[in-house]
Amino acid sequence: MKVVAFNGSPRKDGNTAILIRHVLKVLEEEGIETELVQLAGESIHGCNACRTCFKAKNARCIIENDKINEYVQKMKESDGIILGSPTYFSMMTPEMKALIDRTGYVARANRHLFKRKVGAAVVAVRRAGGIPTFDGINHFFLINQMVVPGSSYWNIGIGRKKGDVESDEEGIRTMEDLGKNMAWLIKKLKARSKRNTEKKSRKL
Ligand SMILES: Cc1cc2nc3c(=O)[nH]c(=O)nc-3n(C[C@H](O)[C@H](O)[C@H](O)COP(=O)(O)O)c2cc1C
Repeated sequence: MKVVAFNGSPRKDGNTAILIRHVLKVLEEEGIETELVQLAGESIHGCNACRTCFKAKNARCIIENDKINEYVQKMKESDGIILGSPTYFSMMTPEMKALIDRTGYVARANRHLFKRKVGAAVVAVRRAGGIPTFDGINHFFLINQMVVPGSSYWNIGIGRKKGDVESDEEGIRTMEDLGKNMAWLIKKLKARSKRNTEKKSRKL
């Protein structure tokens, strides 16, 4: 079992990364392997709407000079996907939007590559606009036929300077509860698909 997390902040190891790591720590304690990819420093262009992914159907984006195809692969191989972003003018960052548009279009062009994987959004905010950011990311999971677990609050942590979110006690607790619910759900889905595979092989 594996969860891959993407931090869409251009600020490496900032508040979004801290929040994501709180979720990943719980997942690791539950026996789930994790990986954190930080988009800071990566130059990722948005979708150019060429629709080659719908024609080629090879689970790849035509733009090959960045890491999007590597990220599609990482998502495809994982049981769960965390997308984290700070709030920028009440929305996700352009880095996260480019990741969503490009990987989402490739996934939809290839029979919903992420179908029934578990998805969770993680958001850092200084004051306001966290909910539209959270909603935008969740729309990615839902249109990709993914399954979204809840937490004890919406998955948002409050802070401005690097490290501020550590003082948001409730925000941290929300991330930990999210980790527990995500682990619970991944294990249930995994057990179900194992049972289905066994049933199928008995029929053969
Ligand atoms: C360009 C820019 C726009 C921002 N817009 C908002 C905003 O709309 N609402 C808000 O509360 N904070 C806003 N912030 C503050 C960040 O969301 C906040 O500092 C967050 O903790 C940064 O997370 P990071 O350390 O992961 O980058 C903005 C920051 C930047 C640089």
